[in-house]
Parts: sequence; structure tokens; C-alpha cells
Amino acid sequence: MKNFSSTIRDQRLIQAALGRGLPPLTGEFPAIFAGVDKVCLVTGSDAPASLRARATALFPEGGQPHSYYWLPPSEKAKTLNEAAKLCAFLFSRGFSRNSLIVAAGGGTVTDLAGFAASIYMRGIKWVSVPTSFLGQIDAGLGGKTAVNLGGAKNMLGTFYQPALSVCDTAFLDSLPHAELRSGAGELVKYAMIGPAGLRRTITKNLSHALSGDKSALTSCVAACAEFKLAVVAGDERDERGMRETLNFGHTAGHAFEAMAEGRLPHGEAVARGLRFALIVSRDAGLLKPADFKKMDALVDALHLPPAKVRADFRRFLSLVSMDKKARGAGNRFILLRAPGRTAAARDIKDSLLKKAFEGALK
Ligand code: GLY
Repeated sequence: MKNFSSTIRDQRLIQAALGRGLPPLTGEFPAIFAGVDKVCLVTGSDAPASLRARATALFPEGGQPHSYYWLPPSEKAKTLNEAAKLCAFLFSRGFSRNSLIVAAGGGTVTDLAGFAASIYMRGIKWVSVPTSFLGQIDAGLGGKTAVNLGGAKNMLGTFYQPALSVCDTAFLDSLPHAELRSGAGELVKYAMIGPAGLRRTITKNLSHALSGDKSALTSCVAACAEFKLAVVAGDERDERGMRETLNFGHTAGHAFEAMAEGRLPHGEAVARGLRFALIVSRDAGLLKPADFKKMDALVDALHLPPAKVRADFRRFLSLVSMDKKARGAGNRFILLRAPGRTAAARDIKDSLLKKAFEGALK
């Protein structure tokens, strides 16, 4: 097991336990569990019994009574109403400011349970246990909690760090290939925006990770999680231009996801958003054609299935201008100057965006 921590500017620690087949964590991180009066394990109602058993084994009862709460499994259920229901459950069970939520599941579970933890009694401790590949390298790390507002994804939320993030790749053992491929959309993003060492780890392990190789997945998760947490520690609230680099490919990716109305997994939408951002970067004269080719080959390596998105460019334009990252009117994208070097650009011409839109959905 690797205990990893990054220090935020106000001296708080972001702590993570990374590895495969982790031991019980109550003994490894005694300060987190000291004085905790109650624990609620939150999972998706579709979680297999093996997931609950593994999550419970990571947090054995240490005298505190455990409660279990099952969230509806779909992204559509990531609502204020579901967060309120979870809070009402905690209240009915006598949860106090000394209680703890353990959120074990995909991005929907960690986003929603983290959000509930941040508002219940003005905030109680929580532990994030992402169990999907995508969650272990991105969604379950960094303390962005959220629920959706109608159709607008993650419109309500908080920055609220978990006391501990736990990425145990044993949770990934039974994931179907499509889920690994979706997670790999975020993985290749790190190869594009991260430092050379991270890029080497990812390119070396990518095809093995896609075929479910345990050691390749563990290497990728550990390297990406450490990188992401270091970025978050430097810019926790996404105000200093560092954390927004993690959104490379996401402005277009979120638009593709919305246009597909549930038919495009998040990571596949991101992979297409990465291709979009690479084409714009090249055609705007920022990214050398040779670097474009190297980075675009990483998207090719995912062997994405057809996108199932209607090629409605007008709708795409309206969605990208509504993006949280657009910060007002017009469009704003994170682009790539070179591997590992991003730049924000705004008000890019429609003609250039259209070519990238068509290239990304091919
Ligand atoms: N997923 C991007 C971030 O956590 O900032």
C-alpha cells in the first residue's frame, strides 16, 4: 500500500491510500477514525455484494455502529432531492458532527454522498472510495462534490475534501471492458496534460490496462491519483489556472455527453472531447502537427465505438457557451501547446470549432 498526501496552502492534508488489496484502513489512519461515533456506508443500490463486502472490510466496525444506505444507481438520480433524503436518513439515525460517511461507488455515489457530507450539520467527515477506473483516477478524488440541476450536470456543489481517498484496484477486477475503456478516456487525458514521467507510465501500460491487466491498472491508478492530488493541492478551488488543466477535453466532452442523452459514457465523451481539443489546438497554430499525431494516437488506441450523437453543431455551440468554465458569454477552451503544456483560449471562431466538432464525432 502507498499512503500518499499533498498539502493544501492552508496546511490541510489531502490523504490517499493507493494500491491493490488494501488492508483495513481504520488501523492505518487512526487519526481519521478517532472519536468517530457512527459510520454510514453509502453505495449504489446496483452494487454487487462483493463491492459492499470489500468496502466493509476496509472499514471494520471499531465499536461504532454501521449504517448502510443505498443510492439509486443512475446519474439521473444525482439530485438535490436524493441528497436531502440521505441527510434525512442520517438525521433519523442520530448522526452527529462526529459521524463519518464512507462513499463507495462510481462518480454518482462519491459526488452525491460527498455533497451530503458537506451540508449535513454544516459538514461532517467523509471518506471517498471510488470503485470505478474513472473514479479512481479522477471523479472520486479532489473534493469536488455535486448534484445536477435539471439537465445541467454538477451545477450545485461544494469543494469539500474527503478526510481520505481510497483507490483499491481490487475493486476493478470485475469491471467490463466498456467501463475500462470509459475510464481510459481520462487516463489518456493525463498522458496529454501531465509531465513526461506520467506520460511514459500511461503509454507503457495503456493497452494492458484496457485489457484488465491488474498490475497495469494499479500502476496507472497510482500515478494518475498522485498527479491529480498534487494539482488539487495547488489549486483546490479551481481559481489559479492549475486545476482547470484537468478539464482538458471536458468542455466539448460534456456537450457530447449531454447531446447523447445517456448513450455516451462519460469517459468516451471525454475521449472525443480530447480529440476535439487536439484538432482545435493544431488548427489554431498552437500544437505542432507531429505532437498532434502523437497525442491523437492515444485516442485511437482506445478503439472507441461509434459516438451515437446527432451532429447538431448549433446545439453544440449553445452547450459549450453554457459551460461553467466559459465564465460568461462566448466560448472558452483549454487547449494544448505541447505535451504537458496547456493554455486557455476564448472566443474561437465557429469555422474552426465546426471542423473539430466533425473530426471528433467521426
Ligand atoms: N475533474 C476535474 C477536477 O476534479 O477538477
